[in-house]
Amino acid sequence: MTSREPDACIDVSFSVPFTHRLRFTDDVLGADQHVLAELLEPSPGQRARVQLWIDQNVAEAQPDLLDRLATFSRHHQDRLEVESPVQVVPGGEAIKNDLQVIVRMLDAMNAANLDRRSYVVVIGGGAVLDAVGFAAAIAHRGIRLVRLPSSTLGQGDSGVGVKNGVNLYRKKNWLGAFAVPWGVINDARMLQSLSDRDFVCGFSEAVKVSMLKDTAMFDELCAVARQVRQRDMRAAWPMIRRSARLHLDHITQGGDPFEMLEARPLDFGHWSAHRLESMTGFRIRHGEAVAIGVAIDTVYSSLTQGLPAADADRVLHCLRDLGLPLSDPALAETDELFRGLEEFRQHLGGQFTLTLVSAIGRSVDVHEIDHVRMKQAIQQVAQFANREAS
Ligand SMILES: NC(=O)c1ccc[n+]([C@@H]2O[C@H](COP(=O)([O-])OP(=O)(O)OC[C@H]3O[C@@H](n4cnc5c(N)ncnc54)[C@H](O)[C@@H]3O)[C@@H](O)[C@H]2O)c1
Ligand SMILES: [Zn+2]
Repeated sequence: MTSREPDACIDVSFSVPFTHRLRFTDDVLGADQHVLAELLEPSPGQRARVQLWIDQNVAEAQPDLLDRLATFSRHHQDRLEVESPVQVVPGGEAIKNDLQVIVRMLDAMNAANLDRRSYVVVIGGGAVLDAVGFAAAIAHRGIRLVRLPSSTLGQGDSGVGVKNGVNLYRKKNWLGAFAVPWGVINDARMLQSLSDRDFVCGFSEAVKVSMLKDTAMFDELCAVARQVRQRDMRAAWPMIRRSARLHLDHITQGGDPFEMLEARPLDFGHWSAHRLESMTGFRIRHGEAVAIGVAIDTVYSSLTQGLPAADADRVLHCLRDLGLPLSDPALAETDELFRGLEEFRQHLGGQFTLTLVSAIGRSVDVHEIDHVRMKQAIQQVAQFANREAS
């Protein structure tokens, strides 16, 4: 056999169909519990095996949660076999910084004899979704994952994503896998127990995605930003729903769900955000870092891509009205921060590609960054933040 023989080199392209199931509910463990029960499809002649995972901070903030889950399990025991006890895991970014936690999750999935048709149902913030989702993605090469994001960021962005993972080598999401969740349920009641700080975090991603893809939504978000900050759900809930939908549409219709191409438009503002998170030892939340990162790349876009200064100003005001931070002492260490650009390239490989905006609703990819201009953008954002603070 030599490489010259006709069948010694075979390239066959193929595609795999996926279904992304996204649901919105008012009270998923109350009046809308059929939505969750119906997502958990049993195999013929069997009950669906389910393991429940909960973010500890959510369990503590919602003292009736475990009872409500137990009631749910009893109500649907004719079709669901829910593993007991519920698995409670630490909430927040710390869960993504300790590989031993992943090993313990795998131990629990193995002890429960879960198989590929079993369901891992996870309630939590984006960090818990990422970590439990990663364990579910590698156990048996993939157990069905149903996410119930309990934060605005989880509902408007990460919950509908097809990525999961944990941090390694002090780098965000270095270890992870692409995996399409079986289903996602965004439940309005779930958000009630969220702190004010975390409530606004998800809206930095809503600003980001609307700036890129939906100018009407961006205008509306700017108009209702102060109501959102006050947690008025008449203003906030439609924005979360639209943000989730835009992220979902990008993933399912954007042509590159598993990020094979060099551009990652949904990561607008994220090169510095990810770097800031690790530079600050995760003192700042992802959503807060994204607010700062979006502000910086917006001003940089106005300095280099023709984005009108007035539009850049609207973005900064919108983020401010939402109650998001626009500065952090770590921004002063620009050389450290700029390492984020190389990490951003490395994560994907290939040519460095960064998405910027030339107008609200119009993105543009660039392959080089002018460090002098970028420093200028960082300074302008800091000046805006200082002016607003004084
Ligand atoms: N996989 C993806 O595509 C993707 C996309 C964007 C972000 N992310 C990741 O998501 C994470 C950020 O998610 P996040 O903003 O939800 O932060 P988080 O998970 O750290 O949650 C913030 C805090 O709120 C708590 N919490 C969550 N819901 C609560 C509730 N209902 N009641 C009381 N407390 C609650 C959490 O325990 C945590 O302490 C980051 O790790 C980020 O990298 C992933
Ligand atoms: Zn993000």
